[in-house]
Amino acid sequence: MIPTPHIELENKDLIAKTVLMPGDPLRAKYIADTFLTKVEKINDVRNMWGYTGYFGKKKVTVMGSGMGMPSIGIYSYELFEFYGVENIIRIGSCGAYSPDLNIYDVVLVKDAYSESSYAKTMGVSSRKILPANKSLNNKIIRASEKLNIKLHVSTVHSSDVFYRLKHDEFKDIHQKYGADAVEMESFALFANAKALGKKAACLLTVSDSLVTHEKTSSMERQEAFTKMMEVALNSL
Ligand code: HPA
Repeated sequence: MIPTPHIELENKDLIAKTVLMPGDPLRAKYIADTFLTKVEKINDVRNMWGYTGYFGKKKVTVMGSGMGMPSIGIYSYELFEFYGVENIIRIGSCGAYSPDLNIYDVVLVKDAYSESSYAKTMGVSSRKILPANKSLNNKIIRASEKLNIKLHVSTVHSSDVFYRLKHDEFKDIHQKYGADAVEMESFALFANAKALGKKAACLLTVSDSLVTHEKTSSMERQEAFTKMMEVALNSL
């Protein structure tokens, strides 16, 4: 079923087997412009830009996922199911729940806890914690060791809500589920991978801390993001 409702591309060969997904489509463009050669644009629908190019000899696609589980749920499902994608690595940002995580640290998601009904509604799992793919994670760990970039391998909280009224609730989630950081997408991505027999992983840069209330500017985030992108690209 291509094109899909959200990806207009008719030739599925123009999408690589591995897709890197930042939340922001502008970041997908930045990665394509900065790191890839022979770049072709593969999607324009809703400005959710995607690009296929080469990192060295490796063909790779980068495409925005949007924010939140419904959005990454749609794009990752269509890529996996209709465009023959085998691996998706989300590259995003997270807020620290743990005092041991500092701004700009890079987190590799071991598994994602969520109160979201995504996996249950989909019919794939009634579990509240879903794992990242181990073999993808091992490749990412090896790339980080080569580049000498430290990774924190952690459980994260995939939240449906960015603005919570209960400001201290994160402490319970940190304690009870061991979640060291919060983001809003991994759980749905991992559910889709499980449903379709595909592989998914997630790398995150710490952009703010719920413990110290430290925040970063968007300029600073762009630079810090580069480290994480290098790890992701070198894991291919
Ligand atoms: N909450 C949810 N998602 C996030 C956050 C946060 O504080 N920071 C970066 N992504």
